Amino acid sequence: MNSRKVIAIDGYASTGKSTLAKMLSRHYHLTFIDSGALYRGVTFFALEKGFLKDNELHQKAFRDALEGLDLRLEPAGDLYLNGENISQKIRHPRVSDDVSTIAALPFVRKFLLHQQRQMALENGIVMDGRDIGTVVFPNADHKFFFTARPEVRAQRRYEELKAQGQETTLEEVLNNLLHRDQTDSSRDVAPLRKADDAIEIDTSELTTDQLFTHLVEKIDAK
Ligand code: DC
Repeated sequence: MNSRKVIAIDGYASTGKSTLAKMLSRHYHLTFIDSGALYRGVTFFALEKGFLKDNELHQKAFRDALEGLDLRLEPAGDLYLNGENISQKIRHPRVSDDVSTIAALPFVRKFLLHQQRQMALENGIVMDGRDIGTVVFPNADHKFFFTARPEVRAQRRYEELKAQGQETTLEEVLNNLLHRDQTDSSRDVAPLRKADDAIEIDTSELTTDQLFTHLVEKIDAK
């Protein structure tokens, strides 16, 4: 595959996007970028610095602070905020609860849009997110859109969080996913939606290996 290829995987929360994007990146020697991690990193920053506190957002101060923000996603997937590795911290339920609110802010999207496009300049990429095929890379070579039943997604995410030692319940995880889907789909700027030319896949009944084989077949056939 051409080293400057772009593969976009969009879809609902916890449908397997990042896992598959990572597998495809290895298979095709492309850089993997989890765009959700960037939105989570900015949300962590807003919470830690108190720009978002008690559900109140200090927009002007937050916007100004973003200008000096050093957010770096390493090729191995680790996320650094001003030099600190925050890869684990961005998975905390506190971040999950507020990330959709922060991701709906037009100035946050503009800031990260630029970063995401810069990342594709040097090497081909596999990027997963919500608006990759529609807004970030509308000319991507391959576009996929993942869906799955909410109960299946909640169970998967719950097991991941438990394995990381996070305290949570299946019900909390399900509520968070449904809330995020709703906020992500209804925002004004770059809402979650399938690109017209994306291939839609329901991942509920597929194993990771089955899904990987299916995607490789689609990509190689094009
Ligand atoms: O992929 P994830 O579940 O870690 O993403 C966290 C949130 O970030 C998601 O609920 C919405 C936001 N997001 C977005 O708005 N646009 C993207 N391209 C990726 C994520």
